[in-house]
Amino acid sequence: MYNVTEIRKDFPILSREVNGKPLVYLDNGASAQKPQVVIDAITRAYSHEYANVHRGLHYLSNLATDKYEATRGIVKQFLNAEHEDEILFTSGTTEALNLISYGWAAPRLQAGDEIILSVMEHHANIVPWHFLRERQGVVLKWVETDVNGDLDPQAVIDAIGPKTKMIAITQMSNVLGTVVDVKTICTAARMRGVPVVVDGSQSSVHAPVDVQDMGCDFFAITGHKLYGPTGSGAIYIRRDRMAEMRPFIGGGDMIREVSRDVITYNDPPYKFEAGTPGIVQMIGMGVALEYMMNIGMQNIAEHERKLRDYAQKRLTGLNWLNIQGNSATKGAIFSFTLDGAGHPHDISTVVDQKGIAVRAGHHCAQPLMTHLGVTATCRASFGLYNTPEEVDKLVDALELCHELFA
Ligand code: ALA
Repeated sequence: MYNVTEIRKDFPILSREVNGKPLVYLDNGASAQKPQVVIDAITRAYSHEYANVHRGLHYLSNLATDKYEATRGIVKQFLNAEHEDEILFTSGTTEALNLISYGWAAPRLQAGDEIILSVMEHHANIVPWHFLRERQGVVLKWVETDVNGDLDPQAVIDAIGPKTKMIAITQMSNVLGTVVDVKTICTAARMRGVPVVVDGSQSSVHAPVDVQDMGCDFFAITGHKLYGPTGSGAIYIRRDRMAEMRPFIGGGDMIREVSRDVITYNDPPYKFEAGTPGIVQMIGMGVALEYMMNIGMQNIAEHERKLRDYAQKRLTGLNWLNIQGNSATKGAIFSFTLDGAGHPHDISTVVDQKGIAVRAGHHCAQPLMTHLGVTATCRASFGLYNTPEEVDKLVDALELCHELFA
C-alpha cells in the first residue's frame, strides 16, 4: 500500500480551491489529473529535447526519437505484451478503435456478418462499428447486463454464431464500474477463431493488465485517463492480427517509397502511424505509466478497492439515492440519480459549489442509459489519489441536494 497523503503532493492541482473549497476531484473517469513528473517531462521535452521524430539525423531529432520510442517499451511492459512492435501509438482509444474498424474489419466483413457488443460500451466502442453497419450491412449484436450491471461472459460466448466476425467489449464500464471477465470471453472466442477487441480505457487505470494472459487480439488504452497527457494513447495488436491489417491513415512516416504509380509501406507498427505524431504527448504518457508502475498497479487496485467499499457503504446508506449497477466486483465508479431531484446536471452544479467535481450526463454510453431507463446520471469516479474523507464530503453535498430538491 502507499501513503495517499504523500501521493497527493505529486499532483499540484489537488491543492487548489474551487468555489472557495478545497478541490475534491471525482471526475477521473472523464480525465485524470497529472502528477508533477508528467508536467515536468512535457516542459523538459519542449524546453530542451524537442524536434520531429524518425526524420532528422541531427542530435535533437535523435534525442526526441529515443524518448518517444522509449514509451513503446514502457507500454509493452505496462500491458505485458510479448513484442514492442505490437504497440501502436494513437491519440487515444477513439482513434485506436476507428483504426481497427477501418484497418482490420472494413476490408473483411460482409453484409450479414456480426459484431458482438455489450450494452455498456462507450460510444468510442460503438460508433466505429455502426459505420460498418451503415456502410456495409454488418449486424450489431447486443448483449445485455443483468440487474446488478454484471455482464455474464457466457452470454457473450452464447451470442457467438457462424456469422460472428468480431467481439468488441469493454473490460470496465466507464459508467457502472462493472468489470468484465474478458479472459473467459477471449479464450472461448479464440477457440472459434473470433478476434476480440478490448476497450481498456477504464480498466487499465485501476488494475494490472496482462494482454498475453487475457488472450485478446486488440487492447486499447488512453493516456489522459492514465494520469498522462491528452492526445496520447496506444493499442496492443497481436502480431498476427497486425499483419492482417491495411493502413487507415496515409501520409508521411508510414511509407517506404512513394512514386507516381506505386507506394510501399513501412514496417509495422510505423505503417499505421502516419504524419507527425503526438511526440511530447507520448513522452508524457510514458512517464505517467512509469509513475503508476512505481506506485504499483496492485497497490493502486487495493487502494481503490478500499475506497469503493467505503463509498458503497456510505452511498447505499442514502435511501433516496438510486445507484445504478451493484456488481460485487465493480471498480470505484458510482453512477446515480436522486429521488425527486431534477436533472443530474442540477446535482452536479450543487456539489460543484462545495468544490466537488463529478460528471453528469450520458457519459458517452447512450445504449446503456436506455437499458437502465434513464437519460442521464451523475457519476463520481475515483482515482489513485482520492481519500475516504472525500467520500464523506460527497455524501454531505448529496445530502444538501436531497434537502434542496426533495
Ligand atoms: N469517456 C469519458 C467519460 O467516461 C470521457 O467520461
